[in-house]
Amino acid sequence: METLMDTTVVPLPRIGDKAPEFKAITTQGEINFPKDYVGKWVIFFSHPADFTPVCTTEFMTFASMEDEFNALNCQLVGLSVDGLYSHIAWLRTIKEKIEFRDMKNIEVKFPLIEDISMNVAKKYGMIQPGESSTKAVRAVFFIDPKGIIRAMIYYPLSLGRNFDELKRALVAMQTADKYSIATPADWRPGEDVIVPPAGSCGVAKERMQSDDVKCKDWFFCTKSLHLN
Ligand code: BEZ
Repeated sequence: METLMDTTVVPLPRIGDKAPEFKAITTQGEINFPKDYVGKWVIFFSHPADFTPVCTTEFMTFASMEDEFNALNCQLVGLSVDGLYSHIAWLRTIKEKIEFRDMKNIEVKFPLIEDISMNVAKKYGMIQPGESSTKAVRAVFFIDPKGIIRAMIYYPLSLGRNFDELKRALVAMQTADKYSIATPADWRPGEDVIVPPAGSCGVAKERMQSDDVKCKDWFFCTKSLHLN
């Protein structure tokens, strides 16, 4: 029998786009996305499949860091193209049986979307057929309190994510928004930040003479945020 393939090409979302809208069933009830999350940051991520080892370590890590993300006004929302009962069974197994590093008895409290139809995964470019046409890649979307996509990171199936980096990226974007600055390579909270390039000769001159801003050259200026 001939199998019909869905050949619809959905453009990948981009940084600065409004997060594509959807309603979905999750392990915590129905959600209306991103409407239910207005006013909060969201890390919306996909994983390839329930009952797989790398995904299990990722879920345990995300769940054990959930309070840290919530304290940063950030909610976690997961997705895979498995069904609700599979999700429930997998999360129960994680809590009851799995130990990883110093984590055990881990309860996943954030919503995990069921997406057997792949409708949501396709909207977010999570199905990448060169990698797999039956599983979502490991995508991470950072969505801001206005529902705008601010960053995206995609990993292949074999590569577990670095959760310190996900938290660092969130804090860096929040800091950039709050102080109208940028952050340098490998920036960590508390370190000096980058002052955006001067847009006029006058500002360039002012910067070079300022006590608050440290300039190596007119275009390369840093400053402390005096956060203590
Ligand atoms: C995993 O999560 O372990 C996994 C999932 C899909 C492909 C390879 C590994």
